[in-house]
This record gives sequence, structure tokens and C-alpha cells, in this order.
Amino acid sequence: MRVAIIGAGWIAAAHAAILRRLDGIDLAAVCDIDEGRARELAGNAAVYGDWRELLDRESPDAVFVCTPPLAHREPAVEALDRGIHVYLEKPIARGPEDAQAIVDAAARSDAVCAVGYQWRAVEVLDGLRAALDGQELGLLIGIGAGPTKSRPWFLSRAEGGGNLLERASHGIDLARAVGGEIVSVQATAGTVALAQSAGERGDIEDAAAIVLRFANGAVGSVSIAWTRDGLPGTYRLHVLGSESSLHLELDPEFTLRGVSRGREIDATTTQEPIERGVRRFFEAARRNDPAMVFCTAADAAGTLAVVSACEEAIESGASVEVARLQPARRSP
Ligand SMILES: NC(=O)c1ccc[n+]([C@@H]2O[C@H](COP(=O)([O-])OP(=O)(O)OC[C@H]3O[C@@H](n4cnc5c(N)ncnc54)[C@H](O)[C@@H]3O)[C@@H](O)[C@H]2O)c1
Repeated sequence: MRVAIIGAGWIAAAHAAILRRLDGIDLAAVCDIDEGRARELAGNAAVYGDWRELLDRESPDAVFVCTPPLAHREPAVEALDRGIHVYLEKPIARGPEDAQAIVDAAARSDAVCAVGYQWRAVEVLDGLRAALDGQELGLLIGIGAGPTKSRPWFLSRAEGGGNLLERASHGIDLARAVGGEIVSVQATAGTVALAQSAGERGDIEDAAAIVLRFANGAVGSVSIAWTRDGLPGTYRLHVLGSESSLHLELDPEFTLRGVSRGREIDATTTQEPIERGVRRFFEAARRNDPAMVFCTAADAAGTLAVVSACEEAIESGASVEVARLQPARRSP
């Protein structure tokens, strides 16, 4: 399969390393508006500064869209409309309109579309779901705190959605994967600069606390922080069911520990989740089965709707209902 990468930054480098390890995958082309970056990542692959030209000349079988959130819609929709499989980095987009356009394009395309929320690909998630089966879910407690790379678009709320979209959306997506639909949120953001320094400050929050209400009556929270380089990260999810207390440790070790119906659970993941998600994407593409991917465009659009409600809740201080997704439109 001939594969191209659009956007040759931080996450693209991680994907290029994975692609080079996979049998039957040829990284054929790399595009970035900064051609120097594309060249650095490309190795023997062709280099482009314009993704349309790449699609026209290379006709790849699959593309990895690794651009900042405001630049997700155009290449993702165009590639899907050309029947090219798309692995789209998370979040699906910056805003709901772009997300809807991508969901619609995925629905009318024969190609596969996966979104890169890799925690859905954590192996022990199956064990967590099995341990909860038949029980009432009561409470989910998610924490995501640690250093990350600063990028210009990330420091701009309008461009990247700040730590809510960049970081909390991972925890919200995982909470939805375990607990089902979220119907309303409350949220507040801190004003303390934990990681941003005076010389490099945007208009985004460094810490936020979010309260979630699920359709099934469960409640949950996601607390996030961007911390300074060198501090240890904390990424985890606690889940309390009617007969279980379970703890999912996330990154760099992925483990599931706890007790369900008197049975002790202690399971470890062997496969790195981003690579597992990418492998599943190619498997789905080979079998022509879009539903096989760990996170579909519609899944990720649902997560974006929750993040958008959190943004509104921070602004207003009120509890905000999550907007329902529109059914996918198949005609352009
Ligand atoms: N899954 C994860 O854990 C994870 C981790 C990091 C980033 N991401 C996501 O990946 C995406 C990219 O993030 P990043 O950290 O790699 O950003 P980055 O800023 O390091 O890289 C983005 C690159 O895209 C290029 N670009 C921008 N517009 C373009 C266009 N129209 N055509 C071609 N290239 C263009 C930029 O020049 C830049 O080199 C974001 O959506 C981010 O949320 C996901």
C-alpha cells in the first residue's frame, strides 16, 4: 500500500517511524507547507509543499493527515472523496462544522477513515469492558497531566482549542468509549501558568476540571494540566461499577488493575496503542471494512461535541447540554 503523510511535524514523525516498521507499507510521499520539514521526514519518499499536488501526482492508497486542527477538513474530505483511506489525527477538527463535513465525507466514501484517539486502541480496554459487563456504571475519574511540546497553533485557543481540545479530549473520548454518551457537562479552567512561561504565552488555560453526566445516569470527571518539562506525567482512569473498582493506568505503561465481582484483575498491554490503531486502520482498509477502526469519524465528532460544550461551560459558568450529532449526509 502506498501511503502519504500530510503535515510533517511532531506526530507525523511518530507515524513515519511506525509506517517504516510495517510490512507491505511504502511511505511514498510527504507534504508540508514548510518543505524543509517534509524533506527531513521523507527519506526516499517524494516531497511536496501542496497536498493537492501530492494527491494528483501520487494517487496514494492512504494518507495520514497530521496537520493542525484547522487544517484537517480540506485534505481529509478531498482524500475521502477520491476514495483514498484516511488516518486523521485527533481531534477530528477545531469546530463542529468541519467535523460534520468530515463525517459526511466518510459516510459517502468507500474508503476507511480512522481518527487518532489512540486510547481506544489500548489492549486492556477490552478487559475493562468485560469486567464491567452487566453492571451499573457509577463513576469515572480521569486524570491527564504532564508536559507536552509547545506549538504555535496549540497556544492559540481559536486555532487549537487549547488543553481542552488537545489534552482533555483524549480523556473525554476514553470516558465515552467506556461509559457511553455524555449528555451534559460543567467545567472550569485555571488561570495559573503551570507550563506557559512569560516569553511564550498564549490565550489558553494550563489546567481545567470537567464534570460529566452520562446518558446512563453515571457521572464522571476529567482533570487535566499541562506541566513543565521534566515533571512526571499522570494519565489514568478509575472506573467504579456496582460490583467493581477498576484502575486503568495510561502511558507509558498501559495496565488494568482492580476487582470485579470478587475477582482480582491485573492485566498489562503488550502493544503500543498508536501502532495498534495504525495496524487496525490498514487491516480495515485491506478488508474494506470502515467499521473495524478503533475510532471512526462519527466517534470523534461525538467527542468534539462534548469538548465544545466544555468550552461553552467555561465561558458561561453554567451546566451545558451536549449538542446531538446530525446524521451523516451522503451527498456532497
Ligand atoms: N494522538 C496524539 O497523541 C497526538 C499527539 C500530538 C499531536 N496530535 C495531533 O496531530 C496534529 C498535528 O500535531 P503536531 O503536534 O504534529 O503539530 P506540528 O505543529 O508539530 O506539525 C503540524 C505540521 O503541519 C504543517 N501544516 C500546517 N498546515 C498545513 C497544510 N495545509 N498542508 C501541509 N502541511 C501543513 C505545519 O507546517 C507543521 O509542520 C494535531 O491535530 C494534534 O492534535 C496527536
